[in-house]
Amino acid sequence: MGSVIAVANQKGGVGKTTSAVNIAASLGLLGYRALLIDLDPQGSATSGVGVPKRGLRFTVRDLLLGNCKPDEVIVHTGFERLDLIPANTSLAGAEFDLLDGEGAQRHLAHALESIRERYDYIMIDCPPSLGMLTINAMVAANGVIIPMQCEFYALEGLSQLTATIARIKQRYNPRLTITGILITMLNKRLALSVQVIEELRKHYGDRLFGTTIARNVRIPEAPSFGMPVYYHDKRARGAKDYLELARELTTRA
Ligand SMILES: Nc1ncnc2c1ncn2[C@@H]1O[C@H](COP(=O)(O)OP(=O)(O)O)[C@@H](O)[C@H]1O
Ligand SMILES: [Mg+2]
Repeated sequence: MGSVIAVANQKGGVGKTTSAVNIAASLGLLGYRALLIDLDPQGSATSGVGVPKRGLRFTVRDLLLGNCKPDEVIVHTGFERLDLIPANTSLAGAEFDLLDGEGAQRHLAHALESIRERYDYIMIDCPPSLGMLTINAMVAANGVIIPMQCEFYALEGLSQLTATIARIKQRYNPRLTITGILITMLNKRLALSVQVIEELRKHYGDRLFGTTIARNVRIPEAPSFGMPVYYHDKRARGAKDYLELARELTTRA
């Protein structure tokens, strides 16, 4: 059965979408069957793998609300072993609809039951909040990857996030764990970065991924071509970092 990993952090701009897209693509390149689920109404992961957000017959919203079957919403991206469940702004309203009724937290978990065994890894790109969409991701997942930038204030949000994960584990999903904390957009020349990493190691030990993602201009370029970074420039530092991270992930989840 596949591993389901939520890529979550309530802060925006920390590298969630970039990491979900590029980890999923790297896992595909390594020979694993990967599914990327876009759970952010912004739809950046969707356009990031070259799928137009407009004119989709079904999106993850339909899947969550039971309006379609998984097979009707899965898109083959054309990248190696990489499928997508897309999202667009229609998902914004779904958060409200999801608040109603029994089992509001479990819609995604139920929807994934029948497709889990088709994939080795399912990566979920979460929106920048701890609302019902992120909760659905964490209830469906067995692991969470927390991307963060290496800055002082990053530490502040982290305890709130780990407390939320602990609560969801206790109430809804006993097998949920923190797969790893991932440092993104790292500039190793900054002394502060080194300090923050040391601080994180002290608190979180080996929950911190050994692999870090360096700041690399090819990474923000790639989505404008609708491609994961490897397909944009396979020699780029960003492509190597995400392949390395995917390898490390396979030793953890
Ligand atoms: N390693 C990196 N180097 C340079 N830019 C990056 C890197 N990772 C992410 N970015 C850029 O930072 C911005 C925020 O990243 P994104 O993945 O969209 O964050 P989030 O999904 O958490 O909001 C995007 O413009 C993205 O292209
Ligand atoms: Mg995002």
